[in-house]
Amino acid sequence: MTATIDEARLEQFMGQMIGYMTGGALCFGVWLGDELGLYRALAEAGPLTADALASRTATNPRLVREWLDGQVAGRLVDYDPAAGRYGLSAEAVAALADDTSPVFVARGMNAFASLFLDGAKITSAFRGDGALAWGEHHPCLFSGTEWFFRTGYRAYLPTEWLPALDGVEAKLRDGATVADIGCGHGASAVVIAQAYPNSRVSGFDYHPESIEVARERAAEAGVTGQITFTVADATSYPGRFDLICFFDCLHDMGDPVSIAGYAREHLNPDGTLLLVEPFALDDHHANLTANPMAALLYTASSAICTPNSLSQPVGLGLGAQAGEASLRKVIEQAGYTRFRRVAQTPMNLILEARP
Ligand SMILES: C[S@@+](CC[C@H](N)C(=O)[O-])C[C@H]1O[C@@H](n2cnc3c(N)ncnc32)[C@H](O)[C@@H]1O
Repeated sequence: MTATIDEARLEQFMGQMIGYMTGGALCFGVWLGDELGLYRALAEAGPLTADALASRTATNPRLVREWLDGQVAGRLVDYDPAAGRYGLSAEAVAALADDTSPVFVARGMNAFASLFLDGAKITSAFRGDGALAWGEHHPCLFSGTEWFFRTGYRAYLPTEWLPALDGVEAKLRDGATVADIGCGHGASAVVIAQAYPNSRVSGFDYHPESIEVARERAAEAGVTGQITFTVADATSYPGRFDLICFFDCLHDMGDPVSIAGYAREHLNPDGTLLLVEPFALDDHHANLTANPMAALLYTASSAICTPNSLSQPVGLGLGAQAGEASLRKVIEQAGYTRFRRVAQTPMNLILEARP
């Protein structure tokens, strides 16, 4: 039986679809603008004609004009019709051109690109056992993740998240040992090393290609004396630490209980576990309806985080929308006695656990 279509609701639904399609296309347009240096050129030079922008970036003028008009229609780039010039507002520079700004998002679009590039592998995972390991993805995911999260680490880690932990900042200032598990390209480890020059940071990740990039990032930041990056699974790294951190990765792991337990055994007495996890509300229905990040994060989780967890022993599949209550259960099962939320942003929950 065919349900009757309500024309008004259909129109509204299709309007929503057009919004999503426009968003998808503009994610690509933003990726292109960053990749070709178009935003940076506009930010440096101020308003330019399409020809002048093409000439400054050694790109094709006709294609650049077409891209610019899409950006103007999408309200990302400003246009002065009288002068025929395109320019960026201060806000657009911060989001799209200045990769040191606390709201830079342009390069994170690489992560969205990876979803389509990995389409065949992701559909196979859906039709099979659900497993797809991190390292099987297109490299766009690794750089997209780095840039998607790095902005927040730079903005909040030394100023809000680490100071919110009980007694940790003083230790870091004096000289503490820190482990960053599942460190990826090392964005968080580099921020910690730069903020606390007396501390030593050990980054571990089981993905060898990410560890290679992390070493390059440490060299670029001039912190090689303070940081080591080592290929290791979250249940096999050596050493004891004052602070062990999991940045946006515990939910990606197959056996987070054993992994958090292993970390507990590798903490110094009075050490601290820091979990940075994607923001989610504990009530499932509330999360679906009232968390503005939920659509993005559940979708990414279905294709990236959960398949990675299912590719590992136990395969708990917490997902990127696990939320504080599920994470508390994991931490308690791992034998920690104290657990609390110390901070949050629209993107992240910042959680502290103590042995
Ligand atoms: C979403 S990325 C986060 C990377 C980094 N922490 C960041 O915030 O940019 C998840 C990371 O966890 C790593 N990972 C997943 N399972 C792991 C495991 N069992 N042991 C070590 N690393 C793991 C992946 O290789 C990947 O680099």
